[in-house]
Amino acid sequence: MSASDWRCPPVADTAPAPPVRTAGLLGAGVIGGGWAARLLLAGIDVRLYDPSPSAAEAAQVTVERARRAWGRLTLAPLPAEGTLTLVDSVEAAVAGADLIQESAPEREALKVGLLAQASRAAPPDAIIATSTSGLLPTRLAAEIDGPERFLVGHPFNPVYLLPLVEIVGGDRTAPEAIARAADIYRALAMKPLVVRREVDGFIADRLLEALWREALWLIADDVATVEEVDDAIRFGAGLRWSAMGTFLTYRLAGGDAGMRHFMAQFGPALQLPWTHLMDVPALDERLLDKIVAQSDAQAGDRSIAELERIRDDCLIAVMRGLAGAGYGAGEVLALTERDLYERAGGEDARLALPDGRLALHEVLVPPEWIDYNGHMTEYRYLEVLADTTDAFLRRIGILGPYIDTGRSYYTVESHLRHLGEAHAGDRVRVATRLLGHDEKRLHLFHELLTGDDLETPIATGEHMLLHVDRTAGKTAPAAPVVLSELEAIAESQRDLPWPEAAGCSIGPARPSRVSA
Ligand SMILES: NC(=O)c1ccc[n+]([C@@H]2O[C@H](COP(=O)([O-])OP(=O)(O)OC[C@H]3O[C@@H](n4cnc5c(N)ncnc54)[C@H](O)[C@@H]3O)[C@@H](O)[C@H]2O)c1
Repeated sequence: MSASDWRCPPVADTAPAPPVRTAGLLGAGVIGGGWAARLLLAGIDVRLYDPSPSAAEAAQVTVERARRAWGRLTLAPLPAEGTLTLVDSVEAAVAGADLIQESAPEREALKVGLLAQASRAAPPDAIIATSTSGLLPTRLAAEIDGPERFLVGHPFNPVYLLPLVEIVGGDRTAPEAIARAADIYRALAMKPLVVRREVDGFIADRLLEALWREALWLIADDVATVEEVDDAIRFGAGLRWSAMGTFLTYRLAGGDAGMRHFMAQFGPALQLPWTHLMDVPALDERLLDKIVAQSDAQAGDRSIAELERIRDDCLIAVMRGLAGAGYGAGEVLALTERDLYERAGGEDARLALPDGRLALHEVLVPPEWIDYNGHMTEYRYLEVLADTTDAFLRRIGILGPYIDTGRSYYTVESHLRHLGEAHAGDRVRVATRLLGHDEKRLHLFHELLTGDDLETPIATGEHMLLHVDRTAGKTAPAAPVVLSELEAIAESQRDLPWPEAAGCSIGPARPSRVSA
């Protein structure tokens, strides 16, 4: 794991067998590299074929970028990374693969031949998918062996972050293959959208192309620059779209009267000649020069790699925000995190320090956790403590199925003491003591440790939690299985001395001495 990877170390061998163990990728450009990264980070082995000598290196760069992005996207423990193998033939890529994902250039004849070649060497039950942006699967399947297992799996760049994947079957695709592909993509933390009918451009690219066509006209007609077009999107509708799309947004625009009112109010405007619809501006040298010059000016001296980093960080911010709201792409992320934590749940908590304290949580301090004083800011301490408490709760069985019954623990009191500093790049480990418990109460004491030996304390956090029945709206005894887990932990920590700082409170401030 690189220093830029801000997350807990991967928990090895804890995930149940994923629906795909090995994926064969054909093409390692922008999209193939993105698929490689998403699959590897999901713990799947990847066999990658691309005839270009530079493709392998480019794919490695994408994988590194994806590691950084996922390290920032979530602190949930990812499975042990899959292995990337570069191979020199289509046959070697697809041999033994459960999923084959073709991401070669968007040329129908090339894809038809490549997919046919792959299908002859692939295991009979492998799903064969193409990343095509809009070519029809029935035409692409023209020469495929076993066309019932072939479909479009159209992702969006960057593939390792954006959850959407459009699934489109051809006229010989089996419904079971569509269902299986949807399950596979779901297990990759994606949102499969099954397109009901095979149409050119599917759903998303038809919408994007309509917008892009209009944008080109606005520039060709000197109404706006490329930057102004982008501003018109990113400061307004673009923000709404990430949560609500077009229809739900317009429903709100109709107020309490809803969609019918909105249609009545704005529908007639569709008759006005606002847009160019199917017209396309001539993409002659003059227009191309103009777009390229304006685009260069917009990018300034920022390289593609820099812009990709900005894009990823912004996407992560949006996705994290949406996860908090449990909405749109954030719902996919929240479910993925719940899944990751549950898979690792039993395992992470078995980690204990030699003296019996539990070591449930570790982080590398990312640069954005540093404040104007040059060290980790206060609320990040609380975040680390809260994440550790969550890991403790998972350890004693407070997982999805338990929480779904309406029972959980609530924190009712916390005491944070600062003893030292953490800086960007420092590894921080949390050592946890169970100081006391009964049927309803849970008394935890966490120590944040850093330094080369991970033994230098920089903070302690002491917390009292109450077991609650949310349906009844009051405290309630924890289930016997939870209490027996607590007993076992208490027993393993029986000989530890009471921590000096436990039970302390902030005393009254004394008047400072003023020298005469
Ligand atoms: N770029 C996007 O935003 C985007 C989004 C979604 C889907 N797609 C689709 O994904 C596919 C790939 O697009 P891209 O943007 O990654 O293109 P790209 O040009 O970046 O990459 C294509 C890769 O395919 C390789 N290649 C060429 N011939 C090959 C062969 N016979 N076998 C295996 N690999 C071969 C090339 O060397 C190159 O590395 C296209 O079908 C495209 O429509 C692209």
